[in-house]
Amino acid sequence: GEVTPPMVPKTTTTDSYAFAFDIDGVLIRGGRPIPEAIEAMKVLNGQNEYGVKVPYIFLTNGGGKTEQERCLQLSRQLELEISPGQFICGHTPMKEMAERYTTVLVVGGEGEKCRQVAEGYGFKDVVTPGDIIKSDKTTTPFRKLTEEEWNNSRERNLAELNIEATFVFADSRHWGDDQQIIIDILTSVNGRLYTRSENYDEGPPIFFSHNDFIWSAEHEHTRLGMGALRISTEAMFQAVTGKPLVSTAFGKPQLGTFEFATRLLQQWRKDTHGMNKPPETVYFVGDTPESDIRGTNEYNESSACKNEWYSILVRTGVFREGTKPRFTPRATVDTVLDAVKHGMKREM
Ligand code: G3P
Ligand code: MG
Repeated sequence: GEVTPPMVPKTTTTDSYAFAFDIDGVLIRGGRPIPEAIEAMKVLNGQNEYGVKVPYIFLTNGGGKTEQERCLQLSRQLELEISPGQFICGHTPMKEMAERYTTVLVVGGEGEKCRQVAEGYGFKDVVTPGDIIKSDKTTTPFRKLTEEEWNNSRERNLAELNIEATFVFADSRHWGDDQQIIIDILTSVNGRLYTRSENYDEGPPIFFSHNDFIWSAEHEHTRLGMGALRISTEAMFQAVTGKPLVSTAFGKPQLGTFEFATRLLQQWRKDTHGMNKPPETVYFVGDTPESDIRGTNEYNESSACKNEWYSILVRTGVFREGTKPRFTPRATVDTVLDAVKHGMKREM
């Protein structure tokens, strides 16, 4: 006889709105998914009363691994497939700097991961603090490289090395030693190690992949982040030279990062859903008022923004009840699941 296929409720993918998610403190904490995150993703993927699927991207200030590797990890944690085409981390926009600088110091992250990321971005000559310590152990009087660090590091002729720029890609694992090397370079003449500028105005630029002073990790209280390293590096530079340090941070809340995200989202919607018009509204879900809410609000108000970016603050990360956030979100909810429900309901 004839087989009737089971009735499957029809889901359509909406082209009128989209979501963008922060990761730490919203979806993940201390390497584990926040329980509501898995459910929230299922709701976006069609398990909802409206029979609709909603496109989404991820926008984190974190990093330290290739986008590919971060996506694999996040896919496993959230039990769904996430592609680098929908993922931006703090250092992703640094890619564009590879055309401008050849020999660079790359700081931060686990082992050799950040060197690999930088080389993947097209940086031609990547030097790490390990390379400098291996080449001259007097650089850091109290630090001896482990066997693994020694084997990974590349010996260089430091007297002939010109560092054209310093990039802090991820959280430093050795603040003191990394800062010693950063200060050596900042106070040099054109990044030539062993030189000292007379007026301290000849050093190469320094870039941080983001400026989060604190972030939400496994500990019950927030942990110091890259923004704290930036502030202390600026204070050290000032103490050593008597001059302020001009440094640059990427990531949220920078407008450029949200512009980058808009382009990525546009490409993603086009490639995976064949959509050619931009969404009317993008719901951004974050836990850090200073990065996520500030960035979303300022981008929304800027002339670069052609649609509506709507900020939603959750209570699972940096922001906690009882304090007033320094930047006011359009909505405050408990978890990412509530944020998804809030946005979807607003669209109905
Ligand atoms: O180091 C990462 C942290 O500062 C922020 O990550 O995902 O909350 O932007 P995220
Ligand atoms: Mg966060």
